[in-house]
Amino acid sequence: MSQPVETEILPPDAAGLARAADLLGQGGLVAFPTETVYGLGGDARDDRAVARIFEAKGRPRFNPLIAHLPDVEAARRYAVFDDRAERLAEAFWPGPLTLVLPLRPGSGLSPLTTAGLDSVALRVPAHPLARDLLRAFGGPVAAPSANPSGRISPTRPAHVLAGLTGRIEAVVDGGDCEVGVESTIVGLVGAARLLRPGGLPLEALEACLGAPLEIGPEGAVLTAPGQMSSHYAPGAPVHLDVTSPAADELWVGFGPGCEGAALSLSPTGDMVEAAAALFHMLHEADRLAGGRTIAFAPVPDHGLGRAINDRLRRAAAPRG
Ligand code: TXA
Ligand code: MG
Repeated sequence: MSQPVETEILPPDAAGLARAADLLGQGGLVAFPTETVYGLGGDARDDRAVARIFEAKGRPRFNPLIAHLPDVEAARRYAVFDDRAERLAEAFWPGPLTLVLPLRPGSGLSPLTTAGLDSVALRVPAHPLARDLLRAFGGPVAAPSANPSGRISPTRPAHVLAGLTGRIEAVVDGGDCEVGVESTIVGLVGAARLLRPGGLPLEALEACLGAPLEIGPEGAVLTAPGQMSSHYAPGAPVHLDVTSPAADELWVGFGPGCEGAALSLSPTGDMVEAAAALFHMLHEADRLAGGRTIAFAPVPDHGLGRAINDRLRRAAAPRG
């Protein structure tokens, strides 16, 4: 765990939102109301801020997050919209709908936001405070629900504070959320697919598209993301828990005691730094490996280390 921080409760007015935007700009974490549930927001372009979201929630996995934007124009900078996406966005944004779309190359989003996938989940929330905050901040905000992993989703500030006090910089006090369940997620990479039922009914989506949706995630998408994208699986073989690498291995260290390593997830053993660096290191190690095996030093399996190890195990898993 990082040092505890003092969690500010910000009023739902111009001064409160200005402070919230300021904290986001400094890489801080700010919980804010949306019409569905409270989101735990951080700058979606900032590796360290997104790593801290996972730390604050105690999530054991780096699953992809939703990037929140104030309007469809802003959203188009991060993803490629086809006709179906344009139609759904026009009909239901702002509102409780998340679209999973092809990531726009050079989007600038942190690979932790997308979990290294080449798709991205985007949402334009309807809550006036959320939209004002997104406008004031002026960038994409990654935000899962503002609760510790495995606990129920927060629909009022007291829920957020009960779970996250001392772990986030602030919460914007916007009272109760109207919808109370998360956004409906529609995948539009390939066939239109309902990835998560939520605040917007399926019937409304199908009426808008004029066609039925496939239901549920495509077999392999979420269970074996290692096969989804080059970001996940280096071309080189990967070994884990290596404390003394062989001569033909490219060693990636963690913490002190790995002085001979070619790369390091964090020379000081800082978990947030390691999580923030993880996807970049997988890429860089693959680039440098040149036929060698990539050998990762052990990362302690607690806190963010669990999510780091989960991702490393996927990178090391045998490939078909
Ligand atoms: O209502 C909501 O959507 C709330 C508020 C805060 O906006 N947010 C929320 O985020 O529920 P979260 O992180 O709890 O849920 C994000 C979901 C996850 O199930 C994740 O797997 C899916 O979105 N997701 C994100 N990116 C994806 C992608 N590229 N492909 C498939 N699924 C994706
Ligand atoms: Mg959630």
